[in-house]
Amino acid sequence: MILDVDNLTIRFPFGRELRPVVRGVSFQVAPGEILGVVGESGCGKSITNLAVLGLLPPGAQVTADRFALCGQDLLAVGRRDWPTVRGSKVAMIFQNPMSALNPSLTIGTQLIESVRKADPALGRRQREARAIELLEQVGIGAAALRLKSYPHELSGGMAQRAMIAMALASRPALLIADEPTTALDVTIQAQILDLLDRLRRDNGMSVILVSHDIGVVQQYADRIQVMYSGEIVETGPIGQVTQTPSHPYTRALLQSLPGRVGARPKTPLVTIRGMVPPIELAIEGCRFASRCDRAEAQCQDRPPVARRTADSWVRCHL
Ligand SMILES: Nc1ncnc2c1ncn2[C@@H]1O[C@H](COP(=O)(O)OP(=O)(O)OP(=O)(O)O)[C@@H](O)[C@H]1O
Ligand SMILES: [Mg+2]
Repeated sequence: MILDVDNLTIRFPFGRELRPVVRGVSFQVAPGEILGVVGESGCGKSITNLAVLGLLPPGAQVTADRFALCGQDLLAVGRRDWPTVRGSKVAMIFQNPMSALNPSLTIGTQLIESVRKADPALGRRQREARAIELLEQVGIGAAALRLKSYPHELSGGMAQRAMIAMALASRPALLIADEPTTALDVTIQAQILDLLDRLRRDNGMSVILVSHDIGVVQQYADRIQVMYSGEIVETGPIGQVTQTPSHPYTRALLQSLPGRVGARPKTPLVTIRGMVPPIELAIEGCRFASRCDRAEAQCQDRPPVARRTADSWVRCHL
């Protein structure tokens, strides 16, 4: 496994006490696989990924029965060693490429610096050649010229490609793409997602693709993980989960998808009533119960345990 997570809990300081915000999540990412992560805003998707990158805010506490990236125990990584993990095993691209690029430095300067960090032994010429190769890999034409461009001279899609090139510099086994296309228009979004899909095939890289949009995940991911208020409520192969969702929350997310597969024309879009409870709030029963149409007494009283089949599971009483 590239990423192997068992019973990961993340606690944040609230005043003088630590409260869990991500509760006992377990998941794995296989080599070359795209794991799609969905869930409404505030469900803990980003926090979970930031833990894999060692980028949680100071004061956060991470515990797990297993938390391993390419066999390395992430719980044992010290503050000084995280840059090495990020520079060799895992890289991340963010929602807004423009804010992640330094506006006052050319793409070349920034990309060549990523190359230098990844391969300190390369000489100046070789670094530049590798930077050009990376830009070509992400589909940026006239790469040698582009090295001289400043971020503001690039379109949003082009800037995201440049960010992906920087992420690839270290040949990561795992690329975490957190809402990589939310800031882009629909055509460019498809191009970037196609690019990620091609890169994982060509490079055998695994991808965690985080999105609000279950439609995007449906199209690109091999497996899906549905998060709700700091927990994983359902996970499994993409076809199985989207065609026969078991958790009422997964069903609701699928029903709120515009143009959803199999929907009759003019079927009204469903919105999920109510709101995600604050992630740090302690709740006795199922965290989704207050919004669930099918909730029974037991749902309010005690948390559901996960029911497993071969390669999927769901956390629901019903
Ligand atoms: N440093 C922090 N201290 C305390 N609480 C935090 C901190 N960072 C995030 N949170 C809480 O954790 C919640 C979940 O955050 P997270 O960013 O993981 O959500 P998300 O699922 O990625 O949402 P979105 O889809 O909006 O990106 C936030 O809504 C916030 O309440
Ligand atoms: Mg997020």
